[in-house]
Amino acid sequence: MATKVLMVCLGNICRSPLAEGIFRHLSSGKNFVVDSAGTANYHTGASPDHRSVAVAAKNGIDISNQKARQLTPADIVTFDHILVMDEQNLKNAHALCSSANQRDKISLLTSASGHNATQVPDPYYGDEHDFETVFSLVHECCKDWLAKHT
Ligand code: 4NP
Repeated sequence: MATKVLMVCLGNICRSPLAEGIFRHLSSGKNFVVDSAGTANYHTGASPDHRSVAVAAKNGIDISNQKARQLTPADIVTFDHILVMDEQNLKNAHALCSSANQRDKISLLTSASGHNATQVPDPYYGDEHDFETVFSLVHECCKDWLAKHT
């Protein structure tokens, strides 16, 4: 059975859509299913931020068809690994858990990958350079996470 991975950030328009696209690209041909969600519902139904779409496209990854959705308690039952971008996402995702087993599925993408960065910084109020930084960090993390899990 495929291992199910869910990438989570706040709005599901900047970081987690990139993480979903990068993870899908890197895990192609392997037995994984990947999706993404946001802890907030501000952007439900929206396409990824144009700056995330642009940095992904520059690196050969098309994320333009994704649509934002909010993280639900059912996601935490369904997915095997829930990889969050920052400490606030971790708190918000933990709040949806109803067991220790569910909490154990959730981790920071950075620490689960053995990366020394503490979190994936929110680029929403930043510029193109911040999106480049997010892309490289998430790419390294997904590569290292997959090396540990395959
Ligand atoms: P994301 O970025 O969590 O990486 O999708 C954000 C998107 C929207 C907002 C904040 C962060 N917002 O405040 O609307």
